[in-house]
Amino acid sequence: MRVVVLENAEAVAQFAADFIVRQVNGKPNSVLGLATGSTPLGTYRKLIEAYQAGRVSFKSVTTFNLDEYYGLEPTHEQSYRRFMCESLFNHIDIDLAKTHVPLGSTLDVERETASYEQAIRGVGGIDLQLLGIGTDGHIAFNEPGSSLASRTRLKTLTRRTRQDNARFFGTIDGVPKMAITMGIGTIMESRELLLLACGEGKAEAIARSFEGPISSICPASVLQWHRQAIVVLDKGAARGLSQLEYYADCEANLKEVAKV
Ligand code: F6R
Repeated sequence: MRVVVLENAEAVAQFAADFIVRQVNGKPNSVLGLATGSTPLGTYRKLIEAYQAGRVSFKSVTTFNLDEYYGLEPTHEQSYRRFMCESLFNHIDIDLAKTHVPLGSTLDVERETASYEQAIRGVGGIDLQLLGIGTDGHIAFNEPGSSLASRTRLKTLTRRTRQDNARFFGTIDGVPKMAITMGIGTIMESRELLLLACGEGKAEAIARSFEGPISSICPASVLQWHRQAIVVLDKGAARGLSQLEYYADCEANLKEVAKV
C-alpha cells in the first residue's frame, strides 16, 4: 500500500487528476470506477481543465460509478447519476452510453445488481477505481459489517452516513435509507485503487483503516489486501497516522528512483 500525504485538498485533487490523465493517455479505452460525494469534486474539476486544455480525451473511456441511492430517479436533484453529469460528464467528451451508474429507481434490484456486475465483467473489469471514505470507514456504501467478499447489492445506510449526507437533502429524514452499491469483492477486483481523503473529520477512519486490523467493521481496511492501492491524503486526514515519516521516506525514494 502506498500512502501519499500532501499539503492540502488542492494537491490531493491534482495528484488524483494527474494519475487519471496518465491512465487514460496510456490506455484510451480505460475502464474507470468513479465515486461521488464532496471528496472527488476537486479532481473532477481538474479533469475538466485537463480536457479543455487538450491534455486528455475521454472519448473511448468507460465508467462505472460505485453507488446510487435506492429509490431515486436518475433525474432527481440528489441522484448520483445527476451528480456525475453535472460535476464531470457534461463537461468532457465522454460517450454517455459508456457511463454506468446503478439505477436507484429500479423495480427489480436483483436484475439491476446482477446486470451491473455483468457489465463490469463484460468490459474486462475496472482498470482504476477512485474511492472516498466515510467517517465510519465505509467504501462505496459498504457500511461496517459488510462482507469483504460482497458483490453489488442493496445495502442499508448507517444513521451516521445519513447524518453525514443530510447536508445535501436538508434533513437526515430526507436522506434515502438504502443504496445500491458495488460490493467490496467487486471493488477489490479493480486492477488499481486510488482512495482520497481530506480533512480532520476523516482522520480517525483513515488511521483505523490503514494502521489497524483488516476487519469488516472498518470496510476500507480491506485495501491493505490489495496489491495496487494508493491512499492520497491531505495533512488533516493523515493526522492520526503513526508512520508518517516512513510514508514520506517512501515517496522521496520513489522520486529518486524515477529520476535514475
Ligand atoms: C460515494 C461513495 C462514498 C463516499 C464517502 C465519502 O460514491 O461511495 O463512499 O466516497 O461517503 O463522502 P465525501 O467525499 O462526501 O466525504
